[in-house]
Amino acid sequence: MPVSQRERTVSWRDGRIRLIDQTRLPQEVVWLEIADEATLAEAIRRLQVRGAPAIGAAAAFGLALAANASPATTLEALRADLAAAAARLRVTRPTAVNLFWAIDRVLAVEASTVAELRAAVLAEAERIAQEDIAACQAIGRYGAALLPAAASILTHCNAGALATVDYGTALGVVRAGWEQGKVRHVFVDETRPLLQGARLTAWELAADGIPLTLITDSMAGYFFQCGAIDAVVVGADRIAANGDVANKIGTYTLAVLAREHGIPFYVAAPTSTIDLNTPSGAAIPIEERDPNEVTTIAGQRVAPAGVPAANPAFDVTPARYLSAIITETGVLRPPFPAGLAEAVARARRKDQT
Ligand code: MRU
Repeated sequence: MPVSQRERTVSWRDGRIRLIDQTRLPQEVVWLEIADEATLAEAIRRLQVRGAPAIGAAAAFGLALAANASPATTLEALRADLAAAAARLRVTRPTAVNLFWAIDRVLAVEASTVAELRAAVLAEAERIAQEDIAACQAIGRYGAALLPAAASILTHCNAGALATVDYGTALGVVRAGWEQGKVRHVFVDETRPLLQGARLTAWELAADGIPLTLITDSMAGYFFQCGAIDAVVVGADRIAANGDVANKIGTYTLAVLAREHGIPFYVAAPTSTIDLNTPSGAAIPIEERDPNEVTTIAGQRVAPAGVPAANPAFDVTPARYLSAIITETGVLRPPFPAGLAEAVARARRKDQT
């Protein structure tokens, strides 16, 4: 579906944040109208809005809600209320750096009156959202150029329109490749425990008429052995300065499989996901979620009562497994450190023009 026909995953309407409730998909398409920042924080925690760039944009609009709700009559008081709201939003999810990046960007806006600051916060949130759409489209163009003809792509989790403001990162590459006639098929990992692949990626691809096969995560190796995969394309939640990548749990396994089978492994992410302050993957905080998400599927218990379960939500793929990182500034090849720093600098320069 072209961008113009799909409603943005995150938008601002009549003083509220409008979000598609991703916990209800694919059974129901439910739009949330969020009027206060505490409800937004809970929506982020519960994964009603999820995916690194979407979380960032939603948090930015959350600060606009906080600015509007604040009774402050002085700039100092409004800045203090925004800082308090930012602190509450920062603790919702630890791994996706876009959350912190977007909050810091909004807090840095300049204004000389209370009214100006309220307007500037909302304008910055909207700029973040618009830039994300443009970044995903550029990622799609750069990424599609890397694909062979009639490509069969494996993807993990959901790095699609739902995980961004629109179009997607990994699915941006798939969409652009499909539009250019280069993508033949997509293998979609179901992505246990929360099934973002089965519920969300399959939903998005089916809506766009892109041929897909849903597989369980443990089938990936089999399909590599069958020669069914030409490229792996995934998103990222945080890219450390050395190129190590945190993404949905199970990504590392695919990277090792891709290396074993000589298949390119691409990470598609905007520069807002690059964290130059984190030197390597070892320093990336990995979210630990409720073990009940593992012992149940869609609310049904699938394990004996009381068995211990682990639930790290992300893993780190070492930079040496990556064939390239596709950003809105272009395609980065190893060694990554200089390229990542240059990509961030280039994106910042563009921001200022
Ligand atoms: O826990 P989630 O669903 O927020 O995890 C999302 C992912 O891991 C995505 O791959 C990542 O955020 C990139 S989204 C463009």
